[in-house]
Amino acid sequence: MPSPSSVFFIDEASSESNKNNSAGLSPKEKVYSAPREIANKVHGEEASRRGVLGGNSSVPLPHDKAIYLSRFEEWDERRPSWQYLNQASTDTSTPYKGKEGKATAKVLFTSDLHIDAPKNRQWLEDLPYCPDETLIVAGDICTSLKKLRATFELLVARFQYVFYTPGNHELWTYAGQGNSIDKFFEILDIADECGVHVRPAWVSPGVAVVPLFSWYNSSLFGSSAAVELRSSQEQNFDRMCSWPVEIVGSQSDPHDSLNPGIASFFLDCNMVRMQRNDWPAASELESATVLTFSHFIPRPELFKGLPSLRKVMGDTELDVQLRMIGSCTHVFGHSHMAVDEICEEVRYVQGALGHPRDLGGCRGLPNSIWNCPKQPDVV
Ligand SMILES: [Fe+2]
Repeated sequence: MPSPSSVFFIDEASSESNKNNSAGLSPKEKVYSAPREIANKVHGEEASRRGVLGGNSSVPLPHDKAIYLSRFEEWDERRPSWQYLNQASTDTSTPYKGKEGKATAKVLFTSDLHIDAPKNRQWLEDLPYCPDETLIVAGDICTSLKKLRATFELLVARFQYVFYTPGNHELWTYAGQGNSIDKFFEILDIADECGVHVRPAWVSPGVAVVPLFSWYNSSLFGSSAAVELRSSQEQNFDRMCSWPVEIVGSQSDPHDSLNPGIASFFLDCNMVRMQRNDWPAASELESATVLTFSHFIPRPELFKGLPSLRKVMGDTELDVQLRMIGSCTHVFGHSHMAVDEICEEVRYVQGALGHPRDLGGCRGLPNSIWNCPKQPDVV
């Protein structure tokens, strides 16, 4: 069996969300005061949501995605909705290599590893052993499943706990690979097999890490008047993806990754999970430190790049979901630009490795978003 590193050398091809402005309530109270309203917005009023946020009203709305949502539900329910990594596990199906049962000391974050680039591969292989640290990888490791598995194995060997959510590059497909949603499920299985967390988990008492699935739509563009107009970059973005008719509709181009059904599907996967009976009570999350992450960008002001790429950057509905969960800090990736901002009392950070040609990539040990509070000295 090749070592993880040798595999790398195989060549292969303002938010619309925060509308609950009840006076006198904290941000978390505002969120929890209207979860049903938000859930209805995501689940029950898709047509109106797409009219505002989806961006491409000429695309027929798909009605058959339930088959894929059922598949996700079946996959997700193989395990509890949240793992308790800081407690000794009684679940013999988890391959976490005996690491569970110990609280983490730090939560580090990175994204956009793009390990096909030799310099990035070297950065990965040079990462130190961090047996007490948790690492969040917010998507875009590579397209090859073989390299993805090798990266998972390397990261799991270096860090205490590793969390991950797929980016757009993972969902590119090649002939014979099936569609991008099939590949999404294959990636989740590989993560499970390697002990990489793609489900929420407590990593220390009262501290949780929560992955969110996502895609982009035109919502970061803001204005509904010109959403049909796309730049050439937007038209050709992620043409290597292949989407099933159940997600994008039978009349649509299966390689059009701006079809609003795609972002809708991934948000719905999050909702399926959030509606599980064993999802923690709002009161438990409200008193916790909840660290969420997604590959795509949840708010327009967090995208600092070219306006001609704004429609392929994120989804403002993500901001609704992360606030429903009670996030205090959200990690994202995709734009490869360092961000550390507080918007409406939630901190948003990006610490992408990015392409070697990018300016400002986070190339040292990933930064942390949470450190274990120093314990008082025993006298
Ligand atoms: Fe990306």
